[in-house]
Amino acid sequence: MKDRIAMLNTEHFWMPFTANRQFKEKPRMLVSGEGMYYTSDDGRKILDGTAGLWCSNAGHSHPKIVAAIQQQAVQLDYAPVFQMGHPKAFEAATALAAIAPEGLNRVFFCNDGSESVDTALKLALAYHRMRGDGLRTRLIGRERGYHGVGFGGIAVGGIAGNRKHFGPTLPGVDHLRHPLDIAKNAFSRGLPEHGAALADELEHRMLALHDPTTVAAVIVEPLQGSTGVILPPKGYLQKLRAICDKYGILLIFDEVITGFGRLGTPFAADFFGVVPDMILCAKGLTNAAVPMGAVIVRQDIYDTFMQAAPEGMIEFFHGYTYTAHPLACAAMLATMEVYREEQLFERAAAMSPYFEDAAHSLKGLPFVKDIRNLGLVCGIELESIPGKPTARAFDVFQKCFWDKGVLIRTTGDIIALSPPLIIDKAQIDALFGAIGDILKQQKTVPEAALA
Ligand SMILES: Cc1ncc(COP(=O)(O)O)c(C=O)c1O
Repeated sequence: MKDRIAMLNTEHFWMPFTANRQFKEKPRMLVSGEGMYYTSDDGRKILDGTAGLWCSNAGHSHPKIVAAIQQQAVQLDYAPVFQMGHPKAFEAATALAAIAPEGLNRVFFCNDGSESVDTALKLALAYHRMRGDGLRTRLIGRERGYHGVGFGGIAVGGIAGNRKHFGPTLPGVDHLRHPLDIAKNAFSRGLPEHGAALADELEHRMLALHDPTTVAAVIVEPLQGSTGVILPPKGYLQKLRAICDKYGILLIFDEVITGFGRLGTPFAADFFGVVPDMILCAKGLTNAAVPMGAVIVRQDIYDTFMQAAPEGMIEFFHGYTYTAHPLACAAMLATMEVYREEQLFERAAAMSPYFEDAAHSLKGLPFVKDIRNLGLVCGIELESIPGKPTARAFDVFQKCFWDKGVLIRTTGDIIALSPPLIIDKAQIDALFGAIGDILKQQKTVPEAALA
C-alpha cells in the first residue's frame, strides 16, 4: 500500500464530493473495468454494485462502444455545432427521440446531468416568455431532490449541504416535501402505498401561495436516487401531472439516473405511464463512456421557439462548445444499439424480482431500518450512530470495498445500489451477500471506531 501511494502524487487533484484528506490517506483506486467488474490498483476484482455512478448500464468498456469511440476519434474529433453541424449529432437526436415517450421528439444536447438541468430550466422560462406569458418565472423543486450542481440545479434541488455555502442561488424557487415516510411505508416492495396525497401540496400549498400563473415549471426526479432511493408513492406522479396540466405548468422529469433501463423501461416516464413535458438524461445515455447529457422536449415547445423568433435569428441563446460532441454522439449511438441488441431494458425488468428478493433478504440484520427497491435500484437505510451521521454506512462501504471486493454507494446512512443492467443472479447474490456479511459484523464494531 505504502509503495503504491509513494508512486502516485495525490496532492493536486481536488476530488469532487469526496473527503479529500481521508481518501488520500488510503486511496481506493480503480485502474480498469470490464463488464460487471472493476480492477483495483492492487489487482483485486471489484464487483460494481453502482454502475460506476448510476451510469455504466451496459457494463464497463463495452467493446462495441469502445470501437465506436475509437473510430470516431480518427474520423472527426471535433466539429462545432454553432451555425455548423455534423451528421452524428442529428443521428443521435433521432435515435434518442425514437425511444422517448410519444410527443417528446426534439433534443438539446449538453455534456452532463447538471447542464441538462440548467438547460431545461432556461427552456421552461424562455418558453413561457416566447408564448407571451413571461410572468411565469417561478420554479418548483422538491426537498431532497438532486439536480446536479449548477446554480439552477442547486436552487431547485433540495439538499441543504449542496446549497448552504453558495448564497441565495436563484430567486422565486419553492420546494415540495419529499415523499419518504418510513413510519408508514417501511420495507415496502416496489412503490409505497402511502403518500400520494403529498402531491396535492403542489396545488394546495405552492400554487395557493404563489398563484399558479407565476409558476413556470415543476421539476422532480421520478425516483429520487442520490438522496437515498426515495420512491414516489402509488399515484403520486399522476397527481403532479394532472395539477400541472390544470394550471398550464410544465412538468420536467429529471431522468439522469432513471433513464435507459434502470426501471426496466427506456425511461421512468414509461414505467409510471406519466409523460412529462421534458425529460432530462445523461449518464446511461452514452453508458458514461463519454460525457453527454440531453433534454428531450415536447415538439410544440420547440415549435413555439421557432415561431416566436424572427426569421433568420437564433431561437434559443444557449449551448455549449461540446454540445453533441462527435465522440459523445458516436458513444451514444453505439450505446443505444447495445441496449437494443442485448435487450438490456427487458433484462433489467426480468431480473428485478430476483433483485428485490435479494434486497429484502437483508431485513432483520443489525441496524437495518428500511429497504426500498424498484427495478434495479435499491436503498438500504441504516440506523445512524447518535452524533455520527454517515459513519455507519461509510464503514460498510469501506469494508465492502476492502474486505469483500464490492463497490457500493452510500449517501448519509443509506446504501444505494444500482448495478449495471447486465448483472446476473450469482452477482446479485454476491452483492447482497457481501453487504449482509458486513452488516452482521456491525453489532461487534465499537462505535468509537467508526470515523
Ligand atoms: C437526478 C440527477 N440529476 C442530475 C444529476 C447531475 O448529473 P452530473 O453529475 O452528470 O452533472 C445527477 C447526478 O447524479 C442526478 O442523479
